[in-house]
Amino acid sequence: MKKIIIANWKMNPETLVDAKKIFNGIKKTASKTKNTQTVVCVPYVFLSELKKLATGKCALGVQDIAGAPGGAHTGLVSAGMVKKYNVTYAVVGHSEARARGQSNEDVHQKILSALTNKIISIVCVGETERDNQGFYWHAIKEQVSVAFANLPRKNLENIIIAYEPVWAVGKGAKREATPAECFEVTVFIKKVLSDLYTPADAHKVTILYGGSVNVKDALGFAEHGGVDGYLVGRESLVVKDFNILQEQLEYYANTEKNKQRN
Ligand code: PGA
Repeated sequence: MKKIIIANWKMNPETLVDAKKIFNGIKKTASKTKNTQTVVCVPYVFLSELKKLATGKCALGVQDIAGAPGGAHTGLVSAGMVKKYNVTYAVVGHSEARARGQSNEDVHQKILSALTNKIISIVCVGETERDNQGFYWHAIKEQVSVAFANLPRKNLENIIIAYEPVWAVGKGAKREATPAECFEVTVFIKKVLSDLYTPADAHKVTILYGGSVNVKDALGFAEHGGVDGYLVGRESLVVKDFNILQEQLEYYANTEKNKQRN
């Protein structure tokens, strides 16, 4: 399985000139990788220009899509619309969108819409805080179970889960999560998926880590966090840092591949 690194630009950058510059900087390193997929999730307004730059190794994504195919939904953009701009990935259920009211059921509808349009969903899950009683496990279970409710197993390869502990995301993060904390949750997510499908099916689903991923600690999550890559926010706008993350992940992917061969 290829490793995946996803840039989530959020509401940045301000100009198309900067968007192209950053995209090209990311693409240059992506083009040299063999075992890593790079995806850049951009604001809709840049799609018509960035679609000209996107490649197989540096694919284009968006940060949300509507659950509905069209109609009276002021401010929303459908999966069918973005598909026309070569978009192949879409983040759904990001914690910032959930904080604005996106529900687990909304996330499920968005996944269905993405599947209809042959777009891979990047489903964000994660607890807002960790309590000592372990209630946060229920929140994660609910997010995963509702998102995948009644989805045929043939779709599992087209859905990625990004585990983002909300308390470790963004500038206001309480602290960074540790690879060990991430590992526990990835095992738990696989258990929830195993109960919905089978253990073999659960292992088909790619799980990423996203929570203030940075050049200093990212590799630890790939090595010990049970994940196949990252969803990167702020650091995805700093080309030289994002390039390091891409290179590190490619190095790790190659090392793993060699181990499997021996
Ligand atoms: P961050 O954002 O890397 O800036 O913490 C991650 C995300 O919210 O996707």
